[in-house]
Amino acid sequence: MLELRSVTRAYELGGERAGVFVVSLSVPQGCLAVLAGPSGSGKTTLLQLAGLLDTPDEGEVLLEGKNVSALAEPARCHLRLRRLGFVFQAANLVPVLSALENVMLPLQLQGCGEIEARRRAEAALLRVGLADRLHHRPGQLSGGQQQRTAIARALAPEPLLVLADEPTAALDHAHGGPLLDLMAELAAEQGVTFLVASHDPSVIARAHRVFRLADGRLVGEDAP
Ligand SMILES: Nc1ncnc2c1ncn2[C@@H]1O[C@H](COP(=O)(O)OP(=O)(O)OP(=O)(O)O)[C@@H](O)[C@H]1O
Ligand SMILES: [Mg+2]
Repeated sequence: MLELRSVTRAYELGGERAGVFVVSLSVPQGCLAVLAGPSGSGKTTLLQLAGLLDTPDEGEVLLEGKNVSALAEPARCHLRLRRLGFVFQAANLVPVLSALENVMLPLQLQGCGEIEARRRAEAALLRVGLADRLHHRPGQLSGGQQQRTAIARALAPEPLLVLADEPTAALDHAHGGPLLDLMAELAAEQGVTFLVASHDPSVIARAHRVFRLADGRLVGEDAP
């Protein structure tokens, strides 16, 4: 589904060279994969490459077997909107919109009509267990509920691949595990592929595959 072939993305700053170097990895469809490693090991850099938010200096990014690293920005933008979903450390919800309206937003940006967007957004919020919170605004939701809303927003457009950067970082331990259980269920039921950057042990414990990074290099891969 997603394949990185020998990708390098180097940042040179004040004579120091950091980033990611010659990383190859492959994530099959329906897999919940985790990028693990200490702070500064290159997790976010790799997610940005996989999410087509950045381009490698060397190497290739393949989505569904197609090399997408060489595409022009309009084509990359189209793929991001249609094929990819993003979940960040903070839910980044629009504060003045309800949970339902937040989830409807990307659907409407894709040209979906209001009735259809509402139907799909309701279904996504139901799936993440928020059927009784449709009309709450983000400030009226708990941190875990906000992250669930962010997952519903990422999933409503039916992406192939969801990229999540430290999605449990703002949650206490009791909420991180269930959030990952939800992702694992969605991967199994709907064939959605997840690539999650995290150093949270409760996240790593639930992964189908773990890619371990250190100093910008892939140092281990396990399928627990
Ligand atoms: N825009 C940038 N300019 C210069 N250096 C950068 C830039 N972005 C990242 N780096 C460096 O690249 C390395 C990898 O950073 P990255 O953000 O990918 O790490 P990370 O594994 O996500 O860390 P964390 O767990 O703290 O989020 C770090 O050494 C960082 O300082
Ligand atoms: Mg990071």
